[in-house]
Amino acid sequence: MAQPTIKKAVFPVGGLGTRFLPATKAIAKEMLPIVDKPLIQYAVEEAVEAGCTDMVFVTGRTKKSIEDHFDTAVDLEIELQAKQKTTLLDIARNIIPSSVNCSFIRQSHPLGLGHAILCARPIVGDEPFAVLLPDDMVDHKTGCLQQIVDVQRQTGGSTIAVDEISADNITAYGVVSVDNTESNPMRVRHIVEKPPRTTAPSNLAVIGRYILQPKIFPILEKTGRGAGDEIQLTDAIAVLAQQQQVHAFRFDGIRYDCGSKLGLLKATVGYAMKHPELADEFRKYLNSL
Ligand code: UTP
Repeated sequence: MAQPTIKKAVFPVGGLGTRFLPATKAIAKEMLPIVDKPLIQYAVEEAVEAGCTDMVFVTGRTKKSIEDHFDTAVDLEIELQAKQKTTLLDIARNIIPSSVNCSFIRQSHPLGLGHAILCARPIVGDEPFAVLLPDDMVDHKTGCLQQIVDVQRQTGGSTIAVDEISADNITAYGVVSVDNTESNPMRVRHIVEKPPRTTAPSNLAVIGRYILQPKIFPILEKTGRGAGDEIQLTDAIAVLAQQQQVHAFRFDGIRYDCGSKLGLLKATVGYAMKHPELADEFRKYLNSL
């Protein structure tokens, strides 16, 4: 039987973004641009492409610009209209399709990703939902969320996107233990947050795209602080995997870790090289260096 479509997408954007200080002292990390669009807009576009119609942002201090970005900017529109800058007016007006609904919930203390997801419970309710971490970007003709939605439709349960990560970097991620690394999707047996290199169960790290069943909420309520003294989504998924099916899926595409400076720079170069207005000039510039 076909699984119901995923309508709600949660964007946990309550983190402090300390790796980008001082840039993130007063503005949201998720508003940092890749060429001409903020990270959060790429993530919302990916969710819209995957069929989501309700965007739920779990925000915190410094995140007001995210609300403003998805709201109407009346003064800007009047100004652009008066100057007959119609292309720019279209861009400012069409950040998201009018049929898409945005809700904002404040995470009063940044207690961790798991806590941020729990904050979304009153809006998500009792249905499966998507989670997108905007600082993870995947460049592919089919968005990463669409890919895992397609997989989840077949498998049911929960699905998380995973990527192969080098042994040096694996300690920064949630890492899965799966039944068969040759298959795709793979049934998750266990998952552990930031394991020491020597005990990491595989080289498959969770990246910021999930489809979760609402059963995660009562588990999160009971999840104590884990790695980094934060309430970790990974720890709750480990419990979920004992109760229901959780699958890991190796997605297609190039993944950029835009939560790090190097990742943000790589994404900027990658997207600039494909940008219709910039690609040729930018390539020439890079070659000239
Ligand atoms: P990160 O681990 O990247 O943390 O969070 P961060 O605070 O954003 O950045 P650094 O490490 O200080 O530079 C992963 C995701 O979880 C969200 C973040 O906003 C990011 O999307 N998050 C994290 C929350 O929403 N709330 C939290 O309490 C912690």
